[in-house]
Amino acid sequence: MSGARITGWGIALPDKVVTNEDLSARLDTSDAWITERTGIKERRIGGTTSGLAIEAGRAALARAGVRPEDVDAVILATTTPEGIVPGTSAAVQEGLGIGGGAFDLNAACSGFVYGLVTAHGLIATGARRILLVGSETLSKITDWDDRTLAVLVGDGAGAVVLEATDGPSELLGWHLGADGSLRHLLYCEHGGYLAMNGKEIFRHAVRAVIESSLVALQRAGLTPDDVDLFVPHQANARIIVAAAERLGIAPERYVVTIDRYGNTSSASIPLALADALETGRLREGSTVLLSGFGGGMTWASAVLRWGA
Ligand code: ACO
Repeated sequence: MSGARITGWGIALPDKVVTNEDLSARLDTSDAWITERTGIKERRIGGTTSGLAIEAGRAALARAGVRPEDVDAVILATTTPEGIVPGTSAAVQEGLGIGGGAFDLNAACSGFVYGLVTAHGLIATGARRILLVGSETLSKITDWDDRTLAVLVGDGAGAVVLEATDGPSELLGWHLGADGSLRHLLYCEHGGYLAMNGKEIFRHAVRAVIESSLVALQRAGLTPDDVDLFVPHQANARIIVAAAERLGIAPERYVVTIDRYGNTSSASIPLALADALETGRLREGSTVLLSGFGGGMTWASAVLRWGA
């Protein structure tokens, strides 16, 4: 069985920046409310799920020095596919010229971590190179007259390349969870708009991130004290702070990008990971905890030894 490690990463963001002031001009909301309740100052809006995924995927492949024809599968984590059939990953496969398989994975905002665990599984059973992309255009399933959701969402994509390694696996521990009895808390029907019970999601999210992180860490033989960098799903800065405080992880050990990007669902963790890499917060040997939660509800955590 081969271990795997991340050898490349890339992001894609629409050019259009929408600030809290822009939203306040057309909705009954304010910069003060959005900042205080969510930590969001601005978000990017535009593009297509496949277009953003292709851009981020191309950057990740280039950084890894991997040719698309040598990729065994592309996994597209998305909540905002462009149709029911085929999977939006088909357009990504064609756009990048991926040599292997292509499939979509929908675990809402937990999708990137679900995909990461899946990619490690594929590599453990013989794949050599996997492209994993989280790409979202939540703006397309948002009612822009609904202030409760319009202020939260953003569009974007983040991608990583995972390659088989002869050394130890980068993945030290993981945990995937779901409670389908809570699926009414966040949903979008075909052709409809996102609907959410924000208060209930908030409550469950904090608990899910904490419990799931602790299980993944325990499976890795670690505790929160061992975490050099916590990269949580970016849904609300208050959820991140509450979970980090209860895990005993100080602000200098976690990543917040929600101020710039809003909630980009399955793109938020790879966007935050790339931000940490670009700002030098992640080094060879760092212990990284990724944790996401979302509609379903689903939740997922992974512990990585960076560059193992
Ligand atoms: N601007 C101004 N006021 C607002 C806004 C807004 N955009 N939205 C709601 N309000 C009002 C409400 O009407 C309410 O007014 P009232 O007291 O007169 O009734 C007041 O502000 C407080 O509303 P709450 O819903 O109690 O505010 P809360 O502090 O819970 O924050 C929020 C709401 C930001 C949605 C929060 O509950 C949250 O972040 N929940 C989790 C969301 C999440 O994580 N979603 C997961 C994924 S989302 C996705 O996948 C797209």
